[in-house]
Amino acid sequence: MEKTIEQYCLEHSTQPSALTREMAEYTKLHVPGARMLIGELEASLLTFLIHSLGIKSVLELGTFTGYSSLCMAEQLPEDGRITTVDVNKWTTGIAQGFWDKSPHGKKITAILSKGREYLESLNEKFDLIFIDADKNSYPYYVEWAKDHLTEKGIIIVDNTLWSQKVLEISPDEQTQSIMKATQLASSWEGFVTTLLPIRDGMLLIKRKTN
Ligand SMILES: C[S@@+](CC[C@H](N)C(=O)[O-])C[C@H]1O[C@@H](n2cnc3c(N)ncnc32)[C@H](O)[C@@H]1O
Repeated sequence: MEKTIEQYCLEHSTQPSALTREMAEYTKLHVPGARMLIGELEASLLTFLIHSLGIKSVLELGTFTGYSSLCMAEQLPEDGRITTVDVNKWTTGIAQGFWDKSPHGKKITAILSKGREYLESLNEKFDLIFIDADKNSYPYYVEWAKDHLTEKGIIIVDNTLWSQKVLEISPDEQTQSIMKATQLASSWEGFVTTLLPIRDGMLLIKRKTN
């Protein structure tokens, strides 16, 4: 079979551990909605950004089976920390089971809560805020993230192309919500954005440095 361009890219991109591959395989076999996992190319971009920006603190909205959390945790320094939030007790339990097998798992704290409820009581800043939970809350999440970003911090919003539904003439409610968040963030004064067509679309948002 011919090699795809994605395979070629992956061959030349830093890969997460064998354990994360095991997590992805387990999720595909046993958990409905496995396509929600970030892909390996997304993981390599997160890896690159963590090292480029010297990221130490991460907030993730949308834990699922813990794949993206562990991919990021593996790249953080020893004193790096991830707080990851999800409503689903079952998938968070699966995630914890895998993290416990990794020396990097201790960097991750899982919060079982609706994202919005948790954020309403959270007064902390983060170097990286990764938004990958309920799409209807995306506008709220990006606005919250803007006010809780460290000076060097970056916001990453996943699924911003939403299977290309963002191009539809009459997009559904979820799509409109994703589009609203994208529109909001790309119009903020003093910030730069880039929407990359990796997998389902990754919007990167960062404060200008000058
Ligand atoms: C796309 S998945 C996250 C995938 C994960 N980041 C990964 O790549 O490994 C989205 C997750 O958001 C969670 N979720 C849905 N509604 C939520 C809410 N209101 N608050 C927090 N999490 C929510 C779902 O339970 C699901 O696990």
